[in-house]
Amino acid sequence: MSKKVLAIYYTQSGQMGDIMGNLTAPLITAGADVDVVSVKPVVDYNFPWTGSRFFSVMPDCVLIVPTELEPFELKHERYDLVILGYQPWFLSPSIPSNSIIQHPKFRAVIKDTPVVTISACRNMWLNAFDRVRKMLGQADAKHVGNVALVDRHPNFVSFITIFYWMLSGKKERYLNIFPKPGVSETDIANVHLYGDILATHLQSGNWENLQHELVNNGAVNIKYPLMVIEGKARIIFSIWARFIAKRKNKMPWISAFKYYLFIALFLGAPILLTLDAVFLRPFTQKRIGAKKLHYLLLN
Ligand SMILES: Cc1cc2nc3c(=O)[nH]c(=O)nc-3n(C[C@H](O)[C@H](O)[C@H](O)COP(=O)(O)O)c2cc1C
Repeated sequence: MSKKVLAIYYTQSGQMGDIMGNLTAPLITAGADVDVVSVKPVVDYNFPWTGSRFFSVMPDCVLIVPTELEPFELKHERYDLVILGYQPWFLSPSIPSNSIIQHPKFRAVIKDTPVVTISACRNMWLNAFDRVRKMLGQADAKHVGNVALVDRHPNFVSFITIFYWMLSGKKERYLNIFPKPGVSETDIANVHLYGDILATHLQSGNWENLQHELVNNGAVNIKYPLMVIEGKARIIFSIWARFIAKRKNKMPWISAFKYYLFIALFLGAPILLTLDAVFLRPFTQKRIGAKKLHYLLLN
């Protein structure tokens, strides 16, 4: 196969690197010329994080403020397929990811080109997906496929374990009680299957049924409660981000946001979901169905 593929991503822990490796392996086996580019910011975000640094990036994430990236080379001017690997930070594409998408070199290469996105996060990726999709559209890319990998454990469990991972740098079982954080090893290994599907479509150059096949093989799962939470959080995060960005001394407000987040998740979310189950969900099935199709990239 004489097809050219660009696979570009950022990663801190290496998780997205492993995922990209598994996704591109079948393409390489099929004979495609795969250009794998791991991008780094000039001033990288030290991993593991400290608590205050972690929360301090929230306004720039939500307001999609880019950071300067180290120069990166692309082997070709045009590709048959571009794969973008990204991770949500605060319900938005991570700052390095938004910087890739806004980079003139990347924008030039995705113009009129099929793009497949793959995200790996705790479990809240819907808003980030919307924003990435919009930016890809503004650059005239053809968004033909999406894979959304998540930590499948319950929301409050992964909330605890992700902090352990992000603040210790160890993708291990916290206190030997909690499950391992992040996307499971099985799910990372299974990404190979999505690579096989991509290889077939790359070969034929027909992208029409790609997303159906990906979805039928479990590449995207929509959880209604998380869709409700993200729907509300998107507005509230935006208000917080704009407010904090205007403050001279941001740290006290970042700290206030942190406490807000804990209260919102453990107290606000259950109340919101109960109200939704009684007053909205039974009467808005059609709208919910359409929204799910949108996030499955099937509409
Ligand atoms: C600052 C920060 C904010 C994050 N916010 C979210 C989020 O809003 N939703 C989510 O599901 N995961 C979130 N995560 C987890 C990341 O999406 C990702 O899974 C994790 O950072 C590992 O990615 P890596 O490949 O860069 O190591 C966040 C991580 C960081 C560091």
